[in-house]
Amino acid sequence: MSNSERNETLLISDCLEWRRILVDAQTQITSEGDKITNSCILGTFYTANPPRYENGDSITQKYLGGEVTFFHGRVLDVDTDLPVAGASLNVWECAVNGLYDQQDPDQPPENMRGMFTSDEDGRYAFYCIKLVPYPVPYDGHAGDILKLMDRHPYRAEHIHFMLTCHSYHRLITQVLPDDDTYLNSDSVYAVKSDLLLQFKPYNPPTLRGKGVNEAHVKWEVNWDFKIKPHKM
Ligand SMILES: [Fe+2]
Repeated sequence: MSNSERNETLLISDCLEWRRILVDAQTQITSEGDKITNSCILGTFYTANPPRYENGDSITQKYLGGEVTFFHGRVLDVDTDLPVAGASLNVWECAVNGLYDQQDPDQPPENMRGMFTSDEDGRYAFYCIKLVPYPVPYDGHAGDILKLMDRHPYRAEHIHFMLTCHSYHRLITQVLPDDDTYLNSDSVYAVKSDLLLQFKPYNPPTLRGKGVNEAHVKWEVNWDFKIKPHKM
């Protein structure tokens, strides 16, 4: 069933917890007492080269609904707590209908995706929609396995990030609202307690996003990433 839009093998490995245990857990660089942002599985809908945006832009090319959210924070060096400038943040989420762009002919390519760069204060910022849960594709073998295990196909609400920066370890992660329904039964075992965040009522920032009507923005998330430098 795999093709350029779908990877059933990776999905099966996620539903069996193989990638979380064998890849994510084995490659994460967190050590005891470390404040580094935890890693999480890549998921099956990653794309390498989404549109590059300015901080304060929206990742929504085609609005299908959803509550508009201002998502911002800083990228920090875990050892020094100093801001990391020039970090690339590849971010992606599904649309309000629970589908990623490559699953949905009604969305333009790379909808709800973007690449941002942290500024000299380590800050990043973008507009997105409030996260929604979605079922992983379950019309194939992964779905059969989930049924055999008596598990539902839903992912807890989440948004994906891949952070890369010269002289720092790459960080692949997902962050999730702390009040989500599926935190205890996520279909691919991707919930980690230190990756939970809160959506708070929006306070307009000084930064104004292009093409974003501030009156329509309902939520705000403030989330910092702490990344680890390579050893010299
Ligand atoms: Fe996802």
